[in-house]
Parts: sequence; structure tokens; C-alpha cells
Amino acid sequence: MIEILSPTELARARGTGAVVADILQTLKSRSTVGTNLLDIDRWAEEMIVEAGAQSCYFDYEPSFGRGPFGHYICTAVNDAVLHGLPYDYTLADGDLLTLDLAVSKGGVAADSAISFIVGESRPPESVAMISATERALSAGIAAAGPGARVGDISHAIGSVLTEAGYPINIEFGGHGIGSTMHQDPHVSNTGRPGRGYKLRPGLLLALEPWVMADTDELVTDADGWTLRSATGCRTAHSEHTIAITHDGAEILTLPSSERG
Ligand code: MF3
Ligand code: CO
Repeated sequence: MIEILSPTELARARGTGAVVADILQTLKSRSTVGTNLLDIDRWAEEMIVEAGAQSCYFDYEPSFGRGPFGHYICTAVNDAVLHGLPYDYTLADGDLLTLDLAVSKGGVAADSAISFIVGESRPPESVAMISATERALSAGIAAAGPGARVGDISHAIGSVLTEAGYPINIEFGGHGIGSTMHQDPHVSNTGRPGRGYKLRPGLLLALEPWVMADTDELVTDADGWTLRSATGCRTAHSEHTIAITHDGAEILTLPSSERG
């Protein structure tokens, strides 16, 4: 199903996007050497409740997981990339951490993910990989607007990732979002321009380029949720929820420090 939001719903979506972005920034600032992934999950729960929002994850039971997720945020470290189930792990210097959060408020969901390096060290391969997903996300957003097609976004994202030298997995990508977190259309991280669904004002999309350093193959962790690189290599992921507007695309999940 594809939903087109009314101006009232879009106003609510802005509110939800701000909640997601600000929680992610707070959690990033608290994710230091010695922080446990279960602390991050608990803080996420507290902030979601505080914001008057609802978790899109806790009761979520999709075909690609095992049972309800039962947590409030995805925490993926190093070779873990998608759907990282929080567990008793203490972050170390140089860990590449991805936090992925979706909540619903006022009946509208928003979804965003950030990758960053914990502590002081800055492994160059990790820095490059995070930068590639962020640049791919920016390119995807720049390609979005009324009249553009989903394939234009996919092509823009895929071009940046390929140029940066990363293989692209096509099993998981971006998605429509609205009254629920996962909706049509699917937005692959590679594709052909001019193809696919034509974008209209009021459509919300979650764009989410992610990469693994040297493989396009995923393996599922014994926890039944966490997806890791098949080779054990490092991974990165960047995601924003955007709204198609009459003159382009508006990022709904910008942190308050970057909002106008
Ligand atoms: N937010 C993720 C996405 O980017 C989905 C997480 S689903 C969960 O689409 F069940 F693992 F939480
Ligand atoms: Co998403």
C-alpha cells in the first residue's frame, strides 16, 4: 500500500521526525567506550515514552525476524548491519556502531539510522564507509521530488556506493512510510533511472543506503534478528525519512542542530 499524507498529517510527520532525530543524537552522545547496548535500548525506551511516542519495533514481528523484536532500537556493531538486536555488549574504542530508530506519534511514523565510530580512534576504512552511505543518502534525497521516479533515487544512491567501491545488496533497502513503518514502494539501493513509481507530494519515504566492505552477502545471527556481513567485514548504514513536497523533498529526521 502507498499512502499520500494530507498537509495535517505531514505536520505531524515533522513532529515525529524531530523526535526520532533528537533521540538518535542524544544516544550518539551517550555511546562511549564502556556503554552497554542494553543501556542504549533502555535510554531509547525512556525517551520514546517521554516524547509521548510509540515504538515501531517492540511488537514488530516481520517475516525477516524471529518473533516480536522486543526492544526499542536497533544496535549494530562492526559486522552487524541491519536489525541489530540489543544484547549485553560493552562498546570498545573504534567500534563502528549503527543506531536505527523508528517511532510513531500522532499516527505517523518516522525512521532514521546513523553510523558512527565509538571513542577516539578513527579507522580510515570505517570513516570512508560511513561517509559513502551519508553521501549516497544525500544523493538519493537530491534525486527525489515530484515527478521523479523511485528508480531515480535508487540510481543516485547506487552510483555513489558503486563509485566508492562497495558491492550492493538488493535484499533490503528503503521503503514508503506513513501510518506504519514499512510500506510500499520499496526503494532499492541500486536501480535504473526513469523506472518505477512516480513520486507525488505527500509521499513519505525512508531512504537507507547501507554497505558491507567486501561482500553483498548477509548472514543471520543466532539471535534470529541481527544481520551480519557474511565475511565478518565492517558495515555502515545511513537513513532519513523524507517527505515529497511540491518543490522537492524535505528531510523530516534532521537533528534540531541542523533544522532551520
Ligand atoms: N528501521 C529498520 C528499517 O530501516 C527496520 C527495523 S525492523 C526491526 O527499515 F524489527 F528490526 F526493528
Ligand atoms: Co527503514
